[in-house]
Amino acid sequence: MSIRIGLLLAAAGGCLGACATLPQASLHQQLGGADGIARLVAATIVEVHGDPRISELFAETDDAYFRARLEEFICQIADGDCDYAGLPMPDAHSGMDISEREFNYFVEDFERAMNTSRLPLAVQNRLLARLARLRDEIIRQ
Ligand code: HEM
Repeated sequence: MSIRIGLLLAAAGGCLGACATLPQASLHQQLGGADGIARLVAATIVEVHGDPRISELFAETDDAYFRARLEEFICQIADGDCDYAGLPMPDAHSGMDISEREFNYFVEDFERAMNTSRLPLAVQNRLLARLARLRDEIIRQ
């Protein structure tokens, strides 16, 4: 056996062993669990209210209700053990006619909140990928 193949086999064996004993942390854990998600949601609500590009949409929002639902929702899409008690995404945003641009502004505010919460970039990207999938359920409802 060549040295290179021997090294590859050793690396693969090492990975198999390590991967079996060291499962990747869930996104929920990486976000800091319930406390981390609560901080992130609180920061997001501050950001959207302070963003003149979309703040009008939240003018009548019951923040306590919105905060509780957004915490549950993020917990759930991050594979946490929570039940989301709010409306399905199309119903929650129906009648708002949210544009693609407004969706992007919201995501920018969310990114700022993730930075305020000092989440590592890799964790931010993992969460953003899951939120991005919801685009079609939220835009132009
Ligand atoms: C992936 C992105 C988003 C997620 C995960 C999300 C999540 C939620 C959740 C969980 C609720 C509460 C549902 C309920 O009423 O039971 C909600 C409501 C709402 N969302 Fe979103 N949303 C997103 C994007 C947006 C965007 C882009 C906008 C506007 C630019 C927006 C504006 C609102 C408003 C105004 C409400 C209603 C609050 C009220 O009852 O007054 N959301 N959203």
